[in-house]
Amino acid sequence: MLNSLAIANYRSIRQLVVPLRALNVVTGSNGSGKSSLYRSLRLLAETAQGRIIPSLAREGGLESTLWAGPESISDAMRRGDQPVQGVKRKEPVNLRLGFAAEDFGYLIDLGLPTPSRSAFAKDPVIKRECLWAGPAFRPATLLVDRKNGLVQSRAHDSGWHQLTTSLPSFDSMMARFGDPRTTPEILMLRERIRSWRFYDHFRTDEQAPARQPQIGTHTPVLSDDGADLAPAIQTIHEIGDSEGLEAAIEDAFPGAAIEVVVSEGRFELVMRQQGLLRPLRAAELSDGTIRYLLLTAALLTPRPPSLLVLNEPETSLHPDLLPALGRLIARTASSTQVIVVSHASRLIATLEDEAECQNLPLEKDFGETILANRESLEPTSWRWPER
Ligand SMILES: Nc1ncnc2c1ncn2[C@@H]1O[C@H](COP(=O)(O)OP(=O)(O)OP(=O)(O)O)[C@@H](O)[C@H]1O
Ligand SMILES: [Mg+2]
Repeated sequence: MLNSLAIANYRSIRQLVVPLRALNVVTGSNGSGKSSLYRSLRLLAETAQGRIIPSLAREGGLESTLWAGPESISDAMRRGDQPVQGVKRKEPVNLRLGFAAEDFGYLIDLGLPTPSRSAFAKDPVIKRECLWAGPAFRPATLLVDRKNGLVQSRAHDSGWHQLTTSLPSFDSMMARFGDPRTTPEILMLRERIRSWRFYDHFRTDEQAPARQPQIGTHTPVLSDDGADLAPAIQTIHEIGDSEGLEAAIEDAFPGAAIEVVVSEGRFELVMRQQGLLRPLRAAELSDGTIRYLLLTAALLTPRPPSLLVLNEPETSLHPDLLPALGRLIARTASSTQVIVVSHASRLIATLEDEAECQNLPLEKDFGETILANRESLEPTSWRWPER
């Protein structure tokens, strides 16, 4: 389980350490920074897939994603007595992301490239990566330390050992190392991050893949686009939490039941509803119904990830369905850590009723995203290393 997420200089987040529990709900008004927080988690996940630099480029490059405000905000700036522009920086430009789990933590620090004539002169460069044991970064707990091209590991207390001196500035150490015999700690880090799962806006339009019959095989993990909804539901029926599945359908659509019909190898989802003489096929269900079924399949996965992140799952759901969705999310959070980004008040209210729920309301303060309830949260220590 992740205990904290730390972000510096990413979009509207100048400096934020977010404490995490088993169930977390990120809320806030438009422009408060919810998507920035969500995207920073995705960037960390993309680092483990070797894709952080292209992902940043797609967002407009480092210069556009970097916090556009001053390095620090003085009281005089807040009062309007000191201009925001023209204050000399103390630290080099950096975008930093990191997390701490119970057993280890990781951070990455990206900077601007030195000017060159290369066609890739705008690519950000990875300056530092640290992997440490235990809950908090300290020089003494470092297991693997990357500084520019130099990567060193300190496994088994046998002193520092150089892995390379020439790791390219665009490669994470996770892209290059992770051999189970020589660098098992990097392998563990990479696999842990790769097991995070994100669900963001499923398609439910007429042509949506989830509405079409699909060739099916065992599907313990619903795909990002939900195309394998029918086989995923059947897999839950056969080897997963089929009781939970029935309860989730009954909770949202009293008297209804879903079934998967297989014909000539193709799986199709159908739903029996009260008052109808025949079941309706997935193609005939409403957008909200399909979306709820997709979320059910994602949440009741028989292969729970270490972290499940849902971005605005309420989209196109009627508010009456949100308490049922909230209860389903809470059920999932008993076996998997869940982060929900939402601005649907009924969903938020249902989740906040859960004892284990960490409420993370974001707000803007002088252009900067902050936690509105930071005073009442448990203090979380975080330390960024020097470059
Ligand atoms: N480089 C940057 N520096 C500072 N602020 C930025 C930067 N890039 C974007 N922003 C601002 O960050 C804010 C947060 O945006 P974000 O998309 O995370 O909001 P949100 O909470 O998801 O809002 P919504 O509910 O509308 O989706 C916006 O007000 C945006 O203008
Ligand atoms: Mg948003």
